[in-house]
Formats: sequence, structure tokens, C-alpha cells
Amino acid sequence: MTASLKQELEASIRAIKDYPKPGIVFRDITTLLGQPRAFRRAVDELVHPFAGNRVEKVAGIEARGFILGGAIAHQLSAGFVPIRKKGKLPHDTVRIAYSLEYGVDEMEMHRDAVTAGEKVILVDDLIATGGTAEAACRLLRQMGADIVAACFVIDLPELGGRKKLEALGVDVRTLVE
Ligand code: PRP
Ligand code: ADE
Repeated sequence: MTASLKQELEASIRAIKDYPKPGIVFRDITTLLGQPRAFRRAVDELVHPFAGNRVEKVAGIEARGFILGGAIAHQLSAGFVPIRKKGKLPHDTVRIAYSLEYGVDEMEMHRDAVTAGEKVILVDDLIATGGTAEAACRLLRQMGADIVAACFVIDLPELGGRKKLEALGVDVRTLVE
């Protein structure tokens, strides 16, 4: 990625102090999404390494991973798998509890959303502690998915998420820190 693209993406992300809790600096990608060029270039950059590779599904984590994951799935002509907060999916699910930078929660995916051996990319806007993405990887692998990579626009490296995923053998791709 060029230095100018990195700068453009960094400049398009808004930082909000003490949200959703005191002491958290929230990285808000709604400003990136609202800028046509930044949104397109972020998606293109995340898609680029996989163009021409066989990717059957893109799994997006609720909620911001749906926006990026949907765009990436479209560009790769892949299917989309929603990984949702508990209680939102209507059919048989697998569920896992997890903790993140500012709380704890549970997520689910449909049991039939991926089949064994399917090549899947996991997508979210940001990786902080990696608790959310690690839980999503565990769900996907429980269903037999072959996780090709996990992709994020933002990495908060001091919180250790990338290392946590790499320790699981997951290839991690991020655009800005
Ligand atoms: C944010 C973000 C990631 C997660 C990262 O989602 O979109 O999913 O936190 O944190 P972690 O690496 O420490 O686990 P959030 O849970 O705020 O949900 P939202 O997208 O529904 O707002
Ligand atoms: N998820 C976890 N930590 C976050 C942060 N600092 N900004 C936005 N989303 C987050």
C-alpha cells in the first residue's frame, strides 16, 4: 500500500475519546465509509491479495464487518456469512462467548452457513484485543471452514489482537494502525 493511501485512510477515520466507556478512544469508521474514494480504496486494498484466488465465503462480524464484508464478498464473487450478536439469527446456530476491549458478549453463526473445507475470509473494521475475531475464527473452524485470512481496516497493535490470531495460525491483514 502506498504511503499516500495509508495517510488518506488514517485521515478519514475519526477518533472519539471516552466512548463507549471512559478511557477508550473509539476509532469511528463511519467517516471513512461516508467518503466515496476512501471507502472504495479501503475495500480495493483489502480485496487485492485475494483477486484470482478461490475464496468461497466472506464472513463479516456484526455490525461494521457487515458493511466491509458485503463489499468485499461482492468484489470476490463470494458468498457472505453474517456472524451476529446472540439472538438475531433465525435458524440453528453455533454460539460462543467472548470479551473485547470494552465488554463481554456472545456471537452466533448459522450451522449451515459454511461447509467443511470451504475457503473463508473473515472481515471486520478493527482488531483490538482480538477477542471478537478469535471467537469468530473458533466458530468458523468448528463448522470446518478453512480460514484463508482475517482482514481489518484498523489494527490497535498495543492490544495484541493480531498476535492472538497469528497464534491460531490465521493470516492477518490490516491497513492502518
Ligand atoms: C468492535 C469492532 C470489533 C471489535 C473489536 O465491535 O467492530 O468487532 O469491537 O474488539 P476486540 O478486538 O477487542 O475484540 P463492537 O463489539 O463494538 O460491535 P459493533 O460493531 O456492533 O458496534
Ligand atoms: N473495538 C474495540 N476497541 C475499539 C476501539 N478503540 N474503537 C473502535 N472499535 C473498537
